[in-house]
Amino acid sequence: CGIVGYIGPNDTVEVLLNGLRRLEYRGYDSAGVAVVDTNGSLSVRKRSGKLARLEDLLEASPLDASGTGIGHTRWATHGGPTDVNAHPHLGDEGKLAVIHNGIVENFAQLRSEVESAGVELLSETDTEVVAALLGLEVARQGDLETAFRAVVARLHGTFTLLAMHRDEPGKVLAARHHSPLVIGLGDGENFLGSDVAAFVSFTKRAVAVEEDSIAIITPAEVRVTDFSGNTVEFEEFEVEWDADASDKGGWSSFMAKEINEQADAVGNTLRGRISSAGVEIPELTALGDDRLREIDRIIIIACGTASYAGHVGSYAIEQWARVPVEVQLSHEFRYRDPVLSDRTLVISVSQSGETMDTLMAVKYAIERGVTTISVCNTQSATIPRESDAAVYTHAGPEVAVASTKAFVAQITAIYLIGLHLARVRGTFSAEEQTRAVEQFEALPAKVAEAIETRDQIAQLAHWMADTRSVLFLGRHVGYPIALEGALKLKEIAYIHAEGFAAGELKHGPIALIDHGQPVFVLVPSPRTSPIMHSKVVSNIQEIRARGARVIAVVEKGDTAVLPYADDVVRLPLADTLFEPLLQVIPLQWFALELSTAKGLDVDQPRNLAKSVTVE
Ligand code: G6P
Repeated sequence: CGIVGYIGPNDTVEVLLNGLRRLEYRGYDSAGVAVVDTNGSLSVRKRSGKLARLEDLLEASPLDASGTGIGHTRWATHGGPTDVNAHPHLGDEGKLAVIHNGIVENFAQLRSEVESAGVELLSETDTEVVAALLGLEVARQGDLETAFRAVVARLHGTFTLLAMHRDEPGKVLAARHHSPLVIGLGDGENFLGSDVAAFVSFTKRAVAVEEDSIAIITPAEVRVTDFSGNTVEFEEFEVEWDADASDKGGWSSFMAKEINEQADAVGNTLRGRISSAGVEIPELTALGDDRLREIDRIIIIACGTASYAGHVGSYAIEQWARVPVEVQLSHEFRYRDPVLSDRTLVISVSQSGETMDTLMAVKYAIERGVTTISVCNTQSATIPRESDAAVYTHAGPEVAVASTKAFVAQITAIYLIGLHLARVRGTFSAEEQTRAVEQFEALPAKVAEAIETRDQIAQLAHWMADTRSVLFLGRHVGYPIALEGALKLKEIAYIHAEGFAAGELKHGPIALIDHGQPVFVLVPSPRTSPIMHSKVVSNIQEIRARGARVIAVVEKGDTAVLPYADDVVRLPLADTLFEPLLQVIPLQWFALELSTAKGLDVDQPRNLAKSVTVE
């Protein structure tokens, strides 16, 4: 869900829509705005479906342009994506409006309470119950702020909640509990958002609201309190993202733009962290070398694409820093009663830094006294703020739901952590360090070259537009890339796809191979991993003999696969550990081109949200 709040002299509806557009990437299935205008009346416009539908409604039935406003994009949880269930919801007989991100767990109980107080609810949402409750409290307490505090104290679950009341027109209130909230500071105007994208076109000055706080904004003032009303100090930070970076800029989709930005994503993530002297990440130096030397086990936690970046990274960290590394899905991690000690390091990987499953896993790790490092792409998001150290990826804002540039930046950042650990722990010779730095320095140019595979892949996708199933095979670091290739295809082309470790094929999946079954095979470099290479070539022969249509992704000059492959995609040369950063690119293009060939919405696939802020 996306949340925007605005108070100030400018066209409120325009500011809200701009914010909602920039938050579109978070995924949603309905949208709405509410405004208290200068005459003191409160009006709402909301619609199921995309923002364009809300814009049509606003054109047909405009709102007074200036005043106080809140806007919302909703990803349905309680109740389907209908006009009625869309936010904002009204309370106090239409005098107040509320928007909400998260889930109110005790809503059934609150619902019967407000119904027995005589309120008639129109929607199936937990949010309308909160609006109703707030209405009853305002009637009881007399002012919005006291009432808001009383309601917030009664909610169980997760929420970012924004409220405004027609009788107190110059004010928007916001509360956060396990769900993101940032404030944008303007001159005679102030903003609220689920993240800085909501207001980055208007101000670069931001405040990350702490967990369990309430923010009160007026045109002239910003106040933050805890849930009991005690004033809390806050710190301002400068937003690094450029407003233009979250524009499509001539590309057919955000995903196409973002695939194309991957050389910069890698280059910017490396900047300031590698030199001929090796790798040093200042944020990790601040943790203290002794602490890093004592680590005897690393657990990487993440979801979705970020977990595959972690999986790729696990091979590199083990190889370089000689520490056992395992990757766990965040939502599985804490329920298995993991074996943790003060020598365990947990590295979380999250583009948004707000994924609830990952945040909860990080909090669990912190409670258990474990050192935590966050690999994150979003400045001042909750996960990096909670963690002991944050190693930011500098991929810039990622808007398309399917992650691409954040993924390569995540692998880059995890590798840098591996190299930093290897240096501190002395597990790496100077020559090895130099070799890794050279590989990194050459990487952005190679990534740019891999991006050039698009036309070839577009042809392939065109021929395969009717394909109903695609398999991906990889070995070693190619294995998580096979998983990622399959995930991309599921996410945006809605095609059944699976990734396998190439060696596992003969233990079951080979039974799936039938005449014409497309299989992408990620072939490791014959120069830097000759044995794995020859094993994968054998795997190709096995599936080819059973009728598979083989698309081999190889390094340039590898001719061993030519007799057995139907199509060959050639990539620049890189050492084995660096190949995933190139191999994933044709697979990203493939998913995008197939989705396009099927006429689907590449950037906003059905049922998915970019940042899943519920567990
Ligand atoms: C959602 C998105 C995925 C993403 C995952 C993790 O499921 O649809 O594309 O990989 O969340 O997101 P994060 O922001 O934590 O990297």
